[in-house]
Amino acid sequence: MLTGRHLLLIVSGSIAAYKALELARLLRRDGARVTPVLTAGGAQFVTPHALQAICGEAVMQDLWSLEQEAAGGHIRLARAPDAVVVAPASADLLARMATGLASDLAGAILLATTRPVLVAPAMNPTMWAHPATVANVAVLRARGIAFVGPENGEMAEPESGYGRLAEPPTMLAAIRALFSAGPLAGRHVLVTSGPTHEPLDPVRYIANRSSGRQGHAIAAALAALGARVTLVSGPVAIADPPGVTVVRVETAAEMLAATEAALPADAAVCAAAVADFRPATAVAGKIKKIAGMAPAPITLALNPDILATLSHHARRPRLVVGFAAETSDLIENARQKLARKGCDWVVANDVSGDVMGGSDNTVHLVTAAGVEDWPLLPKPQVAARLAARIAEALA
Ligand code: C5P
Repeated sequence: MLTGRHLLLIVSGSIAAYKALELARLLRRDGARVTPVLTAGGAQFVTPHALQAICGEAVMQDLWSLEQEAAGGHIRLARAPDAVVVAPASADLLARMATGLASDLAGAILLATTRPVLVAPAMNPTMWAHPATVANVAVLRARGIAFVGPENGEMAEPESGYGRLAEPPTMLAAIRALFSAGPLAGRHVLVTSGPTHEPLDPVRYIANRSSGRQGHAIAAALAALGARVTLVSGPVAIADPPGVTVVRVETAAEMLAATEAALPADAAVCAAAVADFRPATAVAGKIKKIAGMAPAPITLALNPDILATLSHHARRPRLVVGFAAETSDLIENARQKLARKGCDWVVANDVSGDVMGGSDNTVHLVTAAGVEDWPLLPKPQVAARLAARIAEALA
């Protein structure tokens, strides 16, 4: 709940600005006070009257308003709230934030504020993917600005891709996360967990023994440190960790799509045991056993590598952590994996015993700096240690 919190809501120019009205309604229902700021672009899409009515406070629009300057002006507006939320954030406003331009009230507030800032971008997918926007977002993230979305989907124009403003309940969760206590408050971390199921036909699949216990424990440990966590999980029989957004998938292809949809993230932990191969063709009807006939061989196709894709992604999380489950040459294999996949850390574990599905784990943290050997620990403690290390790395 946001009871007693004071938020400054900056609405900039995007067709998605109408969703800012819904967000303001959710924020007030959650107990927050919302002071609205509307840019010139934002005012092309929502009226100051609508925003003012929903926020229950005067809308600030003009950097040069004498009335507002007399009341303390942009410095007061920048400092009085507990956090600043920019929703929607246009490509132009992101660029101005990245370069520190204070040419309008929103820009001046964003330059003068000392409060946490959450940005919810919304723009055409080509604008979002443009190297200029990618560079601006990287600069802002490195400065500790929190992001939510954009999401993948249909745009106002007949086009689709990443660029849709996050849905209001998702933005609300991200705003609540700004106030969670802990070293990862305001951070978004993506975790993959569990096995994947690769269908052979409607009733059969190829899978592995992963229980999801380690990955789920990592998601819970990150949330306990205040992070907003998106857990992309294959089919598992364990409970959802508390305080975590869970996206359920079956196949590696679905897991990849869900992880990309969850970007941007400050860190990603790929703990899922993703099937390396899938049946090249999933048969539409159940494969029949025919008496006296040898079964047809199964042809396999290579699955996408989610960890490697995230490590080389245009919107790569600042820290990417992989796992290496090995039965021999553990450290050497982990080092090679670090280089081959392009991730920052590899958590190496020996799975020749009963680690998969078991409750304890002996891991080694392999980074460019060297190898740390951790003792045999219950999986939640491995998770807590890893979460603490992630918090240090993002600090
Ligand atoms: O190559 P290998 O499967 O041993 O690598 C393990 C690491 O790579 C784990 O972090 C796992 O989550 C990740 N992985 C992945 N997508 C795949 C295969 C593995 O993300 N298709």
